[in-house]
Amino acid sequence: MEKKLTTSLTEIESALIDAAKNACSTAYAPYSNFKVGAAVLMADGRVFCGSNQENAAYSACLCAERVAILYACANAHNSYPVAIAIAAWKNGNFLETPITPCGECCQVMVEMEKRFGHSIAVCLYGKQETKVLESAKLLLPYSFTSQQLND
Ligand code: THU
Repeated sequence: MEKKLTTSLTEIESALIDAAKNACSTAYAPYSNFKVGAAVLMADGRVFCGSNQENAAYSACLCAERVAILYACANAHNSYPVAIAIAAWKNGNFLETPITPCGECCQVMVEMEKRFGHSIAVCLYGKQETKVLESAKLLLPYSFTSQQLND
């Protein structure tokens, strides 16, 4: 279910993490000074990146994960996300321990798993430790679902 490692990452996981780290540089985070990058791997091999985009109206801020995964799904016809890597940068350095996506991002990822019928692996990068979860559902086992909407 969950791998905790830095040394035994697959080549694909490492490449996706590198893309997420690079994406931190495109963050617009003048309010938090907390830069997050995300990279989404699609089943057809394409990678789409995103970063957090903040706004003076704080509630309009968007997390890196949603920017990346929604951008990916809006652009990749006939494909679906299979993995996402996330990295965070603060005070000139990547964080030592991984950050976890917020509940709203997890909600979006879980619905995508259901929509496409495939799990999305989540790679959480930290300088000291990287965690790989095999499904976003592990982060939000009790998500709100369309079934509840229709009950
Ligand atoms: N943020 C993300 O982009 N992803 C996360 O997983 C956690 C938080 C952003 C939102 C905001 O721009 C800043 O980090 C501080 O919360």
